[in-house]
Amino acid sequence: MPAFSDLSQQNPSEQALLQPAGWNGQGFDPPLQLGVMASGNGSNFEAMEMAIRRGELAATIRLLVVNNPGCGAQRRAERLGIPCSVMDHRLHQDRRELDRELVRRFKDAGAEAIVMAGWMRIVTNDLIQAYPNRLLNIHPSLLPSFRGLDGVGQALQAGVQISGCTVHLVTEDLDAGPIVAQAAVPVMADDTRTSLAERIHHEEHRLLPIALMHIGQSWRQG
Ligand code: GRF
Repeated sequence: MPAFSDLSQQNPSEQALLQPAGWNGQGFDPPLQLGVMASGNGSNFEAMEMAIRRGELAATIRLLVVNNPGCGAQRRAERLGIPCSVMDHRLHQDRRELDRELVRRFKDAGAEAIVMAGWMRIVTNDLIQAYPNRLLNIHPSLLPSFRGLDGVGQALQAGVQISGCTVHLVTEDLDAGPIVAQAAVPVMADDTRTSLAERIHHEEHRLLPIALMHIGQSWRQG
């Protein structure tokens, strides 16, 4: 498959996936103002920033919030020069208090939508209602299959031959909000958790900017 950036080489059906109906090719005006939440490695966070820098997604990441001090996502933000705020969940009284502080920081930073890119905490209504229909999550399975922890391991355990990743809106039910976009990958007979996770990650990096492009269009059309 051609690189995502090379839209001219794609066949019409691929273009339909990558360019939402009504897309004028000019991007968003103004660009999407994003907040990102991450707990670990942060490869999806960096993939979004790279899509922005390549001009494939008209957006700005206003703020990254991490809950694990020193995690990979924080180090990537430092390298990329993106503002990063550390909110160690262990220092907060409970989930709601953490989420209220998250909302405050994102609103202060001017974020109009939030992407949970590997945020390994359950979120509360305080966050969900502060960003109605504008809180997204990426999950490493083809939802509604294999919700919750270890979507990759669950898929292997179940013996499915196709898995993938899903970008969805966040609701109170874990990994059960409306689906925005999905990508499928084959599961090979000799796959390990690591090899399958790697294949899914690769697709996640492609899918997340596409999903934002799609849903951002609807946000801009109000
Ligand atoms: C991804 O597999 C995502 O689907 C899940 O957490 C993982 C984060 O990976 N929610 P990374 O930190 O972006 O590399």
